Amino acid sequence: MSDQLTPRPEHKFTFGLWTVGNQGRDPFGHEVRPVLDPVDSVHHLAELGAYGVNFHDNDLVPHTATPAERDAIVTRFRAALDATGMKVPMATCNLFSLPVFKEGAFTANDPDVRRFAVRKALAAIDLGAEFGAEIFVMWGGREGVEADAAKDVRHALDRYKEAVDLCCEYIREQGYGMRIALEPKPNEPRGDILLPTVGHALAFIGALEFPEMVGLNPEFAHETMSGLSFTHGVAQALWHDKLFHIDLNAQRIGKFDQDFRFGSEGIRDAFYLVRLLEDSGWAGMRHFDAHAYRTEDAAGVWDFALGCMRTYLILKDKAERMRTDTEIQAALKVAKADLLAEPTGPLAAVQKATLDEAALAAQGYGHERLDQLVTELLLGVR
Ligand code: GCO
Ligand code: MN
Ligand code: MN
Repeated sequence: MSDQLTPRPEHKFTFGLWTVGNQGRDPFGHEVRPVLDPVDSVHHLAELGAYGVNFHDNDLVPHTATPAERDAIVTRFRAALDATGMKVPMATCNLFSLPVFKEGAFTANDPDVRRFAVRKALAAIDLGAEFGAEIFVMWGGREGVEADAAKDVRHALDRYKEAVDLCCEYIREQGYGMRIALEPKPNEPRGDILLPTVGHALAFIGALEFPEMVGLNPEFAHETMSGLSFTHGVAQALWHDKLFHIDLNAQRIGKFDQDFRFGSEGIRDAFYLVRLLEDSGWAGMRHFDAHAYRTEDAAGVWDFALGCMRTYLILKDKAERMRTDTEIQAALKVAKADLLAEPTGPLAAVQKATLDEAALAAQGYGHERLDQLVTELLLGVR
């Protein structure tokens, strides 16, 4: 059992450099932890059993770096990856921190700000490609508005589409074979952010020039902030074959974007998510976009990182037990869970079937028993 809960590279756990590197700054308080060297993060995470790291352009190369400084950073970082065997499966672009993006990036009203944003994204795509990243995440943190009078959302969506199309065009031109994953979020830092949920983003992809190149990077915290079921959102993304990447963390409904350690809140929602990912055979990275509590010192950060991975593995083990637990399987039969895979049609069958409405209405589905059995499994008494 203990070996089963030890993270290993084959589990495909990844962390953003910005997650373990988070210094604990919040809107009311300063940094509480020192800057973490990306090379140290690679070594620590490799020791803990992670598969790889992801980064924003400026997590690795500061925005002000000269080309020579950029090359030196890249060489040193590559050496750390080579020494540890760690991979870089995903890269992204910081289009939210710089003052130039205060009114938006891809959807800024000023066309020159948009051109600056697209050019920065193209450079981040190059940087990611240099490290073999296959996924490029687009989180539009500044793509939104507080003063609704100032932004025509229909035009903003035209410009958003244009920017994603331009990035796809560039990726194809360069022959990178990279795919783009849009990350929905309802608000924070903007009052309202465009593409606020999985559903909005899925619909948007259909309007793009290269829809096959674009999918989703849904985040546990973000759907939960809206009071939606993250697991249902992920299931729908899988159903559309659009789950390209995932951001795992924890969040309570109705709160600010907490980005807590995976499973630290909503353990039951986390369980059903892990069960979905495992049962579906999804081959993507199990990526954590979370950070340690502000109470933690440098050592606490590694407790946080290990905790994310262990909880995932514990829940994966519970999902396996659920499959072999005879009482739970019998309760699933009572719930007729397996029959949902059976088609309703064809039309002739629908028209001819003998249907006893009263008998159908009278049946019970045993959800109370089923739910309690799963609860007891999660609480460790089964
Ligand atoms: C957030 C987002 C970010 C993005 C990251 C990758 O709410 O801050 O989740 O962490 O995931 O910028 O693009
Ligand atoms: Mn978040
Ligand atoms: Mn995220």
